[in-house]
Amino acid sequence: MDERFKWEQRYSQAKEPFYGHEPSPFLLRSLPLLPPRGRCLDAGGGEGRNAMFLAARGWEVLLVDLALAGVARARRHAAAQGWPLRLVVADLESNPLALGEGALDLVLAINFHSRRVVEGAMRWLRPGGALVVEGFTQEQLGRSSGGPQDPAVLWHPNELPRLVTPGLRLVWYEDRLVEDDDNPRHRGPKWVVRLVAVRPA
Ligand SMILES: C[S@@+](CC[C@H](N)C(=O)[O-])C[C@H]1O[C@@H](n2cnc3c(N)ncnc32)[C@H](O)[C@@H]1O
Repeated sequence: MDERFKWEQRYSQAKEPFYGHEPSPFLLRSLPLLPPRGRCLDAGGGEGRNAMFLAARGWEVLLVDLALAGVARARRHAAAQGWPLRLVVADLESNPLALGEGALDLVLAINFHSRRVVEGAMRWLRPGGALVVEGFTQEQLGRSSGGPQDPAVLWHPNELPRLVTPGLRLVWYEDRLVEDDDNPRHRGPKWVVRLVAVRPA
């Protein structure tokens, strides 16, 4: 199924936000490792659960996502709460983002498996800025507990550290089977990869 169609369907059919209102628990655990606020790109940000959490805490967030239905829900919710959010509907795999060198303090790729964004973060982050990635690995193939069932998309062993360590310092990395259900759509044991990497000052 076409990726855009899949997400448009999911978001437009769900009465409540597809991944709920709460931000990623991994983003919460990462906060002590991140700058206190600044400019953030939430890549593949969906309906904005992470972007809104940060915007409510003073971050300037740009959310970019392929699915208009997700971005539209984020716009409505942010407007109702009075949180400023910049929202763009775009395919990040085919449209390079025109972001300046060192323009950002934080890049999120949460359950968005994009090599392009991870590589871009090394240019877009200012010294001291951070990249947060959460996703699924090849071991997730055959499991129904979340993530894409596509070996071309799932992260490979050590792929993320290899991608980021030319320019960023790894400050958190885990690649393991987790049992806790911290996402309403990801029930059951799942193999996840989680990373925080910082551009050295
Ligand atoms: C699993 S959801 C995660 C959403 C959000 N990051 C979260 O944690 O709630 C993946 C998101 O990536 C978006 N996406 C998939 N391919 C994309 C692309 N090429 N460019 C931009 N967004 C994309 C989808 O529309 C979807 O909203």
